[in-house]
Amino acid sequence: MFTDQEKEAIYKAIYTRRDVRTFRPDPIPSEIILKILDAAHHAPSVGFMQPWNFIVISTDEIKNRLAWAADKERRALAIHYEGDRETQFLQLKVEGIKQAPLTICITCDPTRGGSHVLGRNSIPETDSLSTACAIQNMWLAACAEGLAMGWVSFYKKNDIRDILDIPPHIDPLALISIGYTDHYPIKPILESANWEKRLMLHELIFHEKWGSQK
Ligand SMILES: Cc1cc2nc3c(=O)[nH]c(=O)nc-3n(C[C@H](O)[C@H](O)[C@H](O)COP(=O)(O)O)c2cc1C
Repeated sequence: MFTDQEKEAIYKAIYTRRDVRTFRPDPIPSEIILKILDAAHHAPSVGFMQPWNFIVISTDEIKNRLAWAADKERRALAIHYEGDRETQFLQLKVEGIKQAPLTICITCDPTRGGSHVLGRNSIPETDSLSTACAIQNMWLAACAEGLAMGWVSFYKKNDIRDILDIPPHIDPLALISIGYTDHYPIKPILESANWEKRLMLHELIFHEKWGSQK
């Protein structure tokens, strides 16, 4: 059983967790890093396959190469937008990779647990979904530790494989920038920038059949 105070703490982490783009350079104590990675490692996973690995990167040389890969993709994405507002947002993420004291590449190994992982037989992408659960656990734990995290997913996977020596069958699912920040957003940054707002929950809940609202 959770006490009322414990319940409040869980919801506080859920509601205050934010995607962050600017970081201070101060180092993160290694025991805190281990705690948030252990939180990730306690995520649910299909067939208990635990498909994740965590590549912890602190050297400027590798962070700069990752930032280069993300910047290359940012420039490629620019053709999809009329203005440059969108890619300017992504530019902040590229800078974030360089600023943050740590980048963590979270990978997913679809072969872990053999060819017939329970549950994954039917829906193969459940391995990536399991890894996403690990990332969310880590995000909530980081938030509770006063750390800021940013999720970067614009890059070509093969660029990241080349830079980090990741074998071809392993998916680099996320680059996570992590550190302390002086600019912790109270709302999603894309909401503050009037890009998108949170949808109304009641419009997303259907009853009995798709589309049927009370
Ligand atoms: C799967 C996933 C991929 C994401 N990739 C990017 C990304 O490539 N670039 C970026 O700026 N933000 C990325 N984000 C962060 C989202 O933009 C952010 O979560 C969203 O705007 C909501 O804001 P909040 O996390 O502060 O609630 C990603 C988030 C998720 C869950």
